[in-house]
Amino acid sequence: MDSKYNIAHSSKSTVTKFQIKSKPIPILFSGKNGPPSPKKVKLNGDDKKKITFSSKILQPKISIQEQRRKLPVFQQRNKLLDIIKRHKTLIILGETGSGKTTQIPQYIYSARLQENGKIGITQPRRVAAISVAMRVAQEHGNGMEVGDLVGYTVRFEDVTSSKTKIKYLTDGMMLREAMFDKLLMEYTVIILDEAHERTIHTDVLFGIVKRAQKIRIEKKVTPLKIIIMSATMDVDHFSKYFNDCQAVYLEGRTYPVNIFYTLKPHDDYQLACVNAFFKIHKEAPPDHDVLIFLTGQEEIESVAHQIRTLAKEPDVEGPMVRVFSLYAAQPSNQQMAVFQTTPTNTRKVIISTNIAETSVTIAGIKYVIDGGMVKARTFHPSTGLELLKIQRISQEQSWQRAGRAGRDSEGSCYRIYTRSQFEAMQKSTVPEIQRANLNSVAIQLLAMGVHALTFDFMDKPPKEAVVAAFEQLKMLGAVESLNAAHLTPLGTKMSKFPLDPRFSKVLLSAHQFSCVEESLTVIALLSAESILISPPNKRELAQKVRQKFTSGYGDHITLLNIYREFNSIGQNSRRNWCHEHYINLRNILHAREIRNQLEEICRSSDIPNSSCGSNMDQLRKALITGLFMNVAELHRDRQYITLDKKQTVFIHPSSSLHGQQPGLILFTEVVQTSKCYLRGLTTIESEWLQDIAPEYIRTHNIKCTKES
Ligand code: CDP
Ligand code: MG
Repeated sequence: MDSKYNIAHSSKSTVTKFQIKSKPIPILFSGKNGPPSPKKVKLNGDDKKKITFSSKILQPKISIQEQRRKLPVFQQRNKLLDIIKRHKTLIILGETGSGKTTQIPQYIYSARLQENGKIGITQPRRVAAISVAMRVAQEHGNGMEVGDLVGYTVRFEDVTSSKTKIKYLTDGMMLREAMFDKLLMEYTVIILDEAHERTIHTDVLFGIVKRAQKIRIEKKVTPLKIIIMSATMDVDHFSKYFNDCQAVYLEGRTYPVNIFYTLKPHDDYQLACVNAFFKIHKEAPPDHDVLIFLTGQEEIESVAHQIRTLAKEPDVEGPMVRVFSLYAAQPSNQQMAVFQTTPTNTRKVIISTNIAETSVTIAGIKYVIDGGMVKARTFHPSTGLELLKIQRISQEQSWQRAGRAGRDSEGSCYRIYTRSQFEAMQKSTVPEIQRANLNSVAIQLLAMGVHALTFDFMDKPPKEAVVAAFEQLKMLGAVESLNAAHLTPLGTKMSKFPLDPRFSKVLLSAHQFSCVEESLTVIALLSAESILISPPNKRELAQKVRQKFTSGYGDHITLLNIYREFNSIGQNSRRNWCHEHYINLRNILHAREIRNQLEEICRSSDIPNSSCGSNMDQLRKALITGLFMNVAELHRDRQYITLDKKQTVFIHPSSSLHGQQPGLILFTEVVQTSKCYLRGLTTIESEWLQDIAPEYIRTHNIKCTKES
């Protein structure tokens, strides 16, 4: 989903909890003390051939073409091509790293199975779409650049050209393409990759692609071939949905993985991961790399800092260490760094979110440390709030994580949970469509003339979530009624923006308040990753140097002030300026690109440009036009109540309004820790709310009691 209504778990607790100890403390795993007696566990089924290697593997350098030929999928190239040729829909299952994503599109291309169209391969994550496209371009050789034959499209970034035939794109982007061409005529082959991830966009795409294929047959136009790929899935469920299509299993190669469980539960799973790492570090040869699974940027950076610091301690045993992190919010050059090899006698440690579960494969991993947690999007129709919550992974995820240690040779996985905690985990992950805010999906489907309640979903979302989405679209003026078959003209304009409909509405109303410039900036900044850097040990200093930008109206206007200042300084001084003010240069530049694209959509929607200069009331009013349902009122000392669902909330400590108590605040982020916090705030006046959203106020029986 595209909105930023959902930033997660506070970092505060992790940072304070995480004091650096002078020495790692021992952690006990099943198998009692010392090196535990390994329990061999087979991964994913019984029919895979097991080959055991001696403990030390040093892969000689081999050419990229040789690497391709060594992939399990290569052995089955011809058989696979034959099956692909014969079936219009096909499921391909194969272990992570067997070559599905990088090789199969190339095979199809070389065999000319795509004829005159393109091969589109969808990925749930941008990092996967980008890294795979780069890898495939490199494999193709002849100095080929990404954007030639092989390209990628992710939100706000299109690296394709008229020559592109193999196109990797996020599922969200393919969905947007479908809004403009329901039949996806650009493609003759569509590969829905990582289908098990069941992101909201993948699930919608399943239905869209299935429908496009059917209509193309009926209309007797160029047929569409659909391939569904994954490392793990409920084949029967998928096959049934895709008209009982055939499934093929790629015979892969996996090695046994020794699984260890902790002897007792560890609430502080981050600390336990650090300790487990140093236990391995002391014992394992230096070329045995380690992959640690945690949940998100702040945890990952905090643990990376811990490991780097502790590894330098004189009394800590083990070779040199290079620590890499991998998470979605990271600049892509840093993401790409995890694929680099490290010097000899240096251990590589990668700390990753679930990205490394199945989307990307990093060679050389011998040890996996599985923190057992994941950040998942959840939406509660009863509270109206959507947030990313840290929760236990499913058993299926836990097996995928363990599998990362057994790709090149036998490996080990240290689970930071007990066996009984493992047994209590859900078998598989609940599809996102059944737990997320559906308003973006609802508007996108309606732009294609389909109502979300009648859409052919593989697993239907809860009816109340669909109704909640339509209620919101109605309040925003995008539909006339809850069972509307079409968007209103305003709704059609809203659907053109790759944004949460609430943000699109702000942009579309901004010209009434003469603040299109400022709205574009704020919405772009909210759509990019955070531009503020707050290093754990310099948080106060960072806040102090940025104090001059702080607006009494709150975070959105503070962000606007930062952006304005950034834009006014010369290009040569930008890097220093960002460094000085703890601003993430890359993210602010990315926000500027997003801004340009949104501006372009505004232009094509005939929205004249305008600026409110220093009159921030105009911008504050414009924000209300889309975000009136995200307002909280001061209830009693520091405690707020959301107007919509009457939830008790507090101002997040990182907000520029922390410590103040304005009467009415509009919010764009919800953070759930022990309490529910709001950040991304703007103070507003109650008369404005009544003027701008009278129907909402009336129908929700809202009385704004406090004045700001
Ligand atoms: O899709 P699947 O998990 O089956 O495998 P893949 O992504 O096609 O990757 C096949 C192999 O290509 C991996 O084992 C990696 O060694 C390599 N690869 C790489 O080196 N760099 C990338 N960005 C992607 C893949
Ligand atoms: Mg893959």
